[in-house]
Amino acid sequence: MVIIVAGATGEVGKEIIKQLVAWNNAQTWTIIALVRTEGSKKVPTGGVQEIRFDFDRPEAYEQLIAHYRPNIFFCALGTTLKKAKSAGAFKRVDRDYPAQFIHALCKCSPGTRVGLVSSVGADRGGGLYLTTKKEVEEIFFKSHLAGTVVRPSLLLSHREEFRLGEKLGAEIIAPAYLLFVRTFFPNWNALWKFAPIETRQVAATLVSSVIGLGSGEPQKENPKVQILEGLALFK
Ligand SMILES: NC(=O)c1ccc[n+]([C@@H]2O[C@H](COP(=O)([O-])OP(=O)(O)OC[C@H]3O[C@@H](n4cnc5c(N)ncnc54)[C@H](OP(=O)(O)O)[C@@H]3O)[C@@H](O)[C@H]2O)c1
Repeated sequence: MVIIVAGATGEVGKEIIKQLVAWNNAQTWTIIALVRTEGSKKVPTGGVQEIRFDFDRPEAYEQLIAHYRPNIFFCALGTTLKKAKSAGAFKRVDRDYPAQFIHALCKCSPGTRVGLVSSVGADRGGGLYLTTKKEVEEIFFKSHLAGTVVRPSLLLSHREEFRLGEKLGAEIIAPAYLLFVRTFFPNWNALWKFAPIETRQVAATLVSSVIGLGSGEPQKENPKVQILEGLALFK
C-alpha cells in the first residue's frame, strides 16, 4: 500500500504520520511525506520517505500521482492569513494546492481514497477562511473520489510557533468548554462541533476512517465521502 501525506510537517500532518507508522507495524506500506525542505526534521521517523515537492509547479501534481498511484492520500495543508500575507497567497495554500492534488488523483489514480483536513463551519462558509475550506470541500465532493473529510474546531497541539488564539484556546477555553459540554450536553453534537480537540485525536479518527473506511455521515452529493465532525471526531 502506498500512502502520501501533504502537509506532513504540520501539527495534524505529523500526527497523521505517527498514526500511519503505528498502523504499519509489519512495515509493508510505503509512507511518503511531501515536504518543502528535505531534512527539516519535522517529519516523524519510522520508515517514512520524505519527498521534496514543489507545490508551485503545476505539472508536479500529475507527475507525482501518476508515478506512485497511491492507495491513500492525506491532505493536511494549511496556512494563516498572517503567514501568507495576502488573501490570494492564503487561498493558494488552503485551496489551490489541495485542488491540484484532487484533480491529479481524479485523472491519474481515481481509486485513491482521500483524507482531507477541513474545518468546522466549512459546510456554511463565510469569511476568507471558511469560504476557502468550503470551496475545497466542494471540489472534493464533485471529484467523486472516495474518502473522509474531518471538520475539527480549534486544534490543541504542542506547536512551537506562537498563535494567540490557539494558546488562549488551549489554556482557558478548552478546559472550560469541554467540562461544560461533557457535564451538561454529552450528546449534543451542535456543541461538540465547536469543542477544541487534540491534533492527535483528529489524526487518529481520520486515519482509521480512511484506512478502515469507518462510518460517518455520507456526503449528499458524493456518498463515497464520509464527513466527521463534532462527537464523531472524539470517538
Ligand atoms: N489550527 C486550528 O485551530 C485549525 C482548526 C480547524 C482546522 N484547521 C485546519 O487543519 C489543517 C491543518 O492545520 P495545522 O494546524 O496542522 O497546520 P500547520 O501546523 O500550520 O501545518 C500546515 C502544513 O501546510 C504546509 N504549508 C504551509 N504553507 C505552505 C506553502 N506555502 N507551501 C507548501 N506547504 C505549505 C506546512 O509546511 P511547512 O512545515 O513547510 O510550513 C505544513 O506541513 C489546516 O487546513 C487548517 O486550516 C486548523
